[in-house]
Amino acid sequence: DDAHLITHALATDTLSRLRDVETEQVAFRKGLVKLGRICGYEIIDGAMETEYVPVETPLEETTGERVKGLDDVVIINVLRAATPFVEGLLKAFPRAKQGVISAGRDEEAGMTDDGEFPITIDYVKLPEIRPEDTVIVADPMLATGSTMCAVLDHVLDEADDFEDLFVLSAVSAPEGLVRVSESVSDADLLTVAIDDHLDDDGFIVPGLGDAGDRAFR
Ligand code: PRP
Repeated sequence: DDAHLITHALATDTLSRLRDVETEQVAFRKGLVKLGRICGYEIIDGAMETEYVPVETPLEETTGERVKGLDDVVIINVLRAATPFVEGLLKAFPRAKQGVISAGRDEEAGMTDDGEFPITIDYVKLPEIRPEDTVIVADPMLATGSTMCAVLDHVLDEADDFEDLFVLSAVSAPEGLVRVSESVSDADLLTVAIDDHLDDDGFIVPGLGDAGDRAFR
């Protein structure tokens, strides 16, 4: 499955501010929150169905249009850089259930010859995932895709029946998108940007640096 680009002008505007090396910690964190909210709206607009419902205004009965399945959303927060991103997503999906997975690259081990990192998973807490649920796994950076593949393994271990699976990132490397789509073919990959390449340390170039460090340090 190909990756779908989120092209909303406010998304690319916000991402461009995040890329800027001059953007300091507070603005960076707020930018990730804002980008998460926009991405949430874009998922609703592009992928969720609506239904017509009767609405009683103070004056008369009319027909309204509501988004279906807004209550049946599970958002998976991949610690730690996804935390502000997920905070934004929750503004679009206020009644979503949230799962948390702490996954990180073992940077000391380094990137293997085939472009992967060993992933350490320390903590996994997922809500029940039901057949009617839309699952969104959010991580602002998809570099080699090693982290996301490990996270998806855990999610798919616990849940094999759900409505839709979205992998949402802000910046992706082509290598990571390929790795994730080959590993989980029925996931929809959504990203605001597909960058040029990964450097020898597995950093996305041009990218935005280390999102976790920029938001938290
Ligand atoms: C970063 C990022 C992703 C991962 C992407 O996290 O937030 O989780 O790397 O890289 P990959 O696609 O090559 O696996 P990091 O391991 O730096 O942890 P952090 O979020 O706690 O900073």
